Amino acid sequence: MPAAQAVIQRQQFIMGPEVLELENALARLSQVRHAIGCASGTDALLLPLWALDLQPGDEVITPAFTFFATAGTVHNTGGKPVFVDIDRATFNVTPAAIEGAITPRTRAIIVVHLFGQMAPMEGILELAQRRGIPVIEDAAQAVGARRRCGGAWRMAGETGWCGTLSFFPTKNLGAWGDGGMILTQEDGLAERLRRLRLHGGSRQYYHEEVGTNSRLDTLQAAVLLAKLPFLAGWSAGRRDRAAWYSARFAGQGDVTPPEVDPANEAIFHQYTIRVPRRDALREHLLARGIGCAVYYPLALHLQRCFASLGYRPGSLPEAEAATAEVLSLPVYPELTEAQQEVVVEAVLEFYGGRMT
Ligand SMILES: Cc1ncc(COP(=O)(O)O)c(C=O)c1O
Repeated sequence: MPAAQAVIQRQQFIMGPEVLELENALARLSQVRHAIGCASGTDALLLPLWALDLQPGDEVITPAFTFFATAGTVHNTGGKPVFVDIDRATFNVTPAAIEGAITPRTRAIIVVHLFGQMAPMEGILELAQRRGIPVIEDAAQAVGARRRCGGAWRMAGETGWCGTLSFFPTKNLGAWGDGGMILTQEDGLAERLRRLRLHGGSRQYYHEEVGTNSRLDTLQAAVLLAKLPFLAGWSAGRRDRAAWYSARFAGQGDVTPPEVDPANEAIFHQYTIRVPRRDALREHLLARGIGCAVYYPLALHLQRCFASLGYRPGSLPEAEAATAEVLSLPVYPELTEAQQEVVVEAVLEFYGGRMT
């Protein structure tokens, strides 16, 4: 790959020019003033949470149905995760659920744009801004996703206090290893985050505060820059394949296809159906060589590491129902119609029906 070769030749593996170039490109795509590369999508959450200087007892609202990093980073920055339930149709959090979880100790709200479609940011921002609570958009699964708000397209990561991206290899924009980025409109926050990722110093060997080492490798930035021009086409390809599946599953009582909120343009990081007897269907598909996966099998409020928070089975019923019913099917731009047909036939065969 010539782009990677150029980095190898130049040998500037840390903070080479490709990092800034990628930051600028993703800032443009996401309609934000600043993009700050870092070591992973997890660190992209960790650094802004750290910047909040959370004190013992400070609460951060977060969905119960998401990847672990969303809540693990709250714990690791000294906060207490407060879990909220999700909307059955979109798997995303709702303004009403968030409003019900706000207390005088709420210091931040993390909204996850799960599976590639945005949560209803306009309603969430309205209630957060009224109370002066910062909103962090976890857009790890939603780079380039957008939503119509008040007649304009708003990008994932654009309207919150900050937004976070992951370049984990399976993401729509995937690196050849770990990588992440923080998006923000706030000049002061951007400056602080740039310091925190470099041991808290804006000048080498001089430290205004204690930070850490969390940089995006130049090599990864070069890979991502080479892929970025294809992202919109790849996401459109995923949308087409998702629409095809959903048309084939329509009217099949056992399979509930994913719903996209009409205000959203989703990027279908995952195509996730809801089904009865999910685990048996999963085995049936895997036995036929059809890759599929459960994102996620246990809601975060029921994870053993959060037992001390006092949640019980039944606390957040929609998140728990999702963990029992969801199954993500293969979705990627290279998937052919014939391959999709094999997947659909295998699903319907399991439920005793065949499509003609
Ligand atoms: C919703 C969500 N948040 C955070 C992360 C963490 O990203 P990373 O794996 O790059 O640390 C991921 C990705 O795995 C994710 O899907």
